[in-house]
Amino acid sequence: MSELHGKVIIVTGAGSGIGRETALLLAVQGAFIVAADFNEIAAKEVVSLIEAASGTADFYKADVSKGDEVKGLIDWTVERFGTLNGIFNNAGIGLVKPFLEMDPESYHRVINVNQHGVYYGMYYAAKKMVELQVEGTIVNTASIYGTMAAVGSFNYNAAKAAVVMMTKSGALELAEHGIRVAGVAPGFIDTPILGGNEERKNRLAAQHMRGKLIQPKKVASVVAFLFSEGATAINGQTIPVDDGYLSFKK
Ligand SMILES: NC(=O)c1ccc[n+]([C@@H]2O[C@H](COP(=O)([O-])OP(=O)(O)OC[C@H]3O[C@@H](n4cnc5c(N)ncnc54)[C@H](O)[C@@H]3O)[C@@H](O)[C@H]2O)c1
Repeated sequence: MSELHGKVIIVTGAGSGIGRETALLLAVQGAFIVAADFNEIAAKEVVSLIEAASGTADFYKADVSKGDEVKGLIDWTVERFGTLNGIFNNAGIGLVKPFLEMDPESYHRVINVNQHGVYYGMYYAAKKMVELQVEGTIVNTASIYGTMAAVGSFNYNAAKAAVVMMTKSGALELAEHGIRVAGVAPGFIDTPILGGNEERKNRLAAQHMRGKLIQPKKVASVVAFLFSEGATAINGQTIPVDDGYLSFKK
């Protein structure tokens, strides 16, 4: 029996890309999955795929940028499955603009989802785990852009750098409750968030050591490891899943 068997894990942004592949993999490894997304149709599709693979899952519609909706997600999960062992705070968006056009609306839109969404997930999940006396695991999706600047990404850089530090700071404060916090920092992953411009995608692909975009399954497998017993000594760290992106310059 898999070590994740019966563990109740929430995946935000489960409707697409990294979240979708991670929800599927964790379910195949035996976890009970709550597929959370503001795109209800996409989240339902993932649940159907999990059930078709003999896994256990349900969906919950939530906008992670809204604290009350994330609190609702956590409460509902415990009502539905009886406990909460983990959350993958992964939902995110991009909105690329030069800094001098980075008006407050464009700035806050990305901060609200990518930074505050992760905070709400960490906060409400950790409070519930402490209440239930569960020594759970929190995994956050940061980015290579949490540690390196990119043109047009002031909002995204700021949010992902915050995720890297919230992962450390949260790990430090939650350690006394037995709760572990870790993160992944993906390079460029072949998901809909990249948009459809093939020329741009080829340019981004060339920045990895092996010259290709990374498949979302490759991030999912690292996230699944972070939830596993084998990763219990990884705490506060954000692991690059970037095919060397951060390690060289062309
Ligand atoms: N694809 C990449 O190259 C890449 C690189 C580094 C980091 N990331 C990060 O990985 C995470 C997942 O991205 P992806 O590439 O799988 O993108 P994606 O667009 O394929 O999936 C994102 C999912 O999040 C959902 N979502 C967006 N905003 C939401 C909100 N406010 N509330 C609830 N759900 C919401 C979307 O509906 C979608 O299903 C994001 O945090 C992103 O910043 C992606």
